[in-house]
Amino acid sequence: MHMHKYEKVWLVFGIGCLFVFLTIVGVSAFAEGNQPPSCLTTIDPEKVDQTPPFNKPGLVKTGDNEYQLNIVASAFAYTPNQVEIPKGAKVTINVTSKDVIHGFEVVGTNINMMVEPGYVNSFTKTFDKTGEYTILCNEYCGAGHHMMTARIKVVD
Ligand code: CUA
Repeated sequence: MHMHKYEKVWLVFGIGCLFVFLTIVGVSAFAEGNQPPSCLTTIDPEKVDQTPPFNKPGLVKTGDNEYQLNIVASAFAYTPNQVEIPKGAKVTINVTSKDVIHGFEVVGTNINMMVEPGYVNSFTKTFDKTGEYTILCNEYCGAGHHMMTARIKVVD
């Protein structure tokens, strides 16, 4: 097959661009602590109160400086709605809903999840600054949507 010189140049250029583009997309998707959405774990939304770890929602120590924070969302509250986390702790937040779709945004952080009944969504974050964070529901879920908040306190 005979190829024109310019044709070859443009072909190489095109393939090169494709590689650069895919690399940028691939790297940036996971940069700055972004995590792929995780809703692989299923749960019976009718039995959340009986299903571990959501039968005892709250903070659980799982290792040296590692914690699990299990939160139940329901119209129109989070359980628990006040959590104290020791500074520097690496926390895996697991959240599920007992009724409709809710949101789970921790204002001022990159934590932003959709909370779907039937699924457990998770996000791991290290809290290395003391202070207070507000958890907000950012999915419209009904009349009390705007009141649906909770608080995380990172303490020394
Ligand atoms: Cu829950 Cu909006």
